[in-house]
Amino acid sequence: MSGGGDCPGINAVIRAVTKTAIHKHRLKVVGILDGFLGLIENRLQELGWGDVSNILTLGGTILGTSNKADPAAYPIRKKGKTKLTDVRARCLHHARRAGLDIIVVIGGDGTMACAQGLAQKGLNFIGVPKTIDNDLPGTDVTFGFDTAVSTATEAIDKVHTTASSHHRVMIVEVMGRYAGWLALHAGVASGSDVILIPEIPYSLDAICNCVRQRSRYGKRFSIITVAEGARPKGGKMTVMKKIKDSPDPIRLGGIANKLQYGIETKTHLDCRAVVLGHVQRGGIPTAFDRALASGLGYYAVESLMAGQKNKLVVHNQGEIGSIDLARIAGKSRRVPADHPLIEAARALGTSFGDKIIFPA
Ligand code: F6P
Repeated sequence: MSGGGDCPGINAVIRAVTKTAIHKHRLKVVGILDGFLGLIENRLQELGWGDVSNILTLGGTILGTSNKADPAAYPIRKKGKTKLTDVRARCLHHARRAGLDIIVVIGGDGTMACAQGLAQKGLNFIGVPKTIDNDLPGTDVTFGFDTAVSTATEAIDKVHTTASSHHRVMIVEVMGRYAGWLALHAGVASGSDVILIPEIPYSLDAICNCVRQRSRYGKRFSIITVAEGARPKGGKMTVMKKIKDSPDPIRLGGIANKLQYGIETKTHLDCRAVVLGHVQRGGIPTAFDRALASGLGYYAVESLMAGQKNKLVVHNQGEIGSIDLARIAGKSRRVPADHPLIEAARALGTSFGDKIIFPA
């Protein structure tokens, strides 16, 4: 089962799990469609060798996914009213009827929280961490992140040439939810002049000082990479919308447009906002993500064959291991303010929008 937002590399996990299970252990594999929604609605289908052939390089997930259906609080409409209902017993019934001994669940913190809720009712899980946000505790890196960083970096590189031709300030908004990993890595890789991340609240004055001074020194354009979760000092994140029936209802977005207005008003420089959006979740997984996803998928099957349950397979300090599912359910890992990449970027003259780096 894959749950939550998709990302490049999920199919590589599905392939590795299915092939290892069939080839090495002669197990029967069943795919659950559209995440927990498929378990609630009893939409399951057997997966054979042929079903997972030729999907290693394919983005998205052949099983489909959903970031809305939490079995502990599933919206049911009755007499014109929607009530959040606990349908975990229904999930248990469907899983038992299909003869499932254990579910390999590919997802982020929200999906693992749902799995944890079902584990408390008696279902067994092995989790495989996935997200372009790279924000899961207990694991150094999640697959999908490397591909998303490459996609964002390539896009920022393209923005660079138009920024320089038009002498503009270009503000590129990347995803990442409440963590700045994606903005930090893509920002450093693209040589962005300003990188704004949720962990380091910014001041508009510091950003304007940076782009204005660059302009004075002859660099008549600037590139700002901003994480969707970035916020001003003493201010809040920019919420694009709230999705009531999602385990995490907040959807961030819109900070680039706010900054465009703020910087243009203060500096009178020509500014444009670019929101990369879901482009970052698509495409062919990088070699790194394919290898990581394959290793994790294989290890997930080995773990369950060793009798483990309710564990998450993780990539920790260069090795694949496992931790308790409960350790990451609903939790997130943020960028530490003294992260070496932040220190390196600061040394290279990058502004994080928190301090004036070109004193008058
Ligand atoms: O968690 C992955 C992610 O792409 C975040 O970076 C982003 O905030 C969110 O999902 C967007 O969710 P949706 O697919 O509901 O728009």
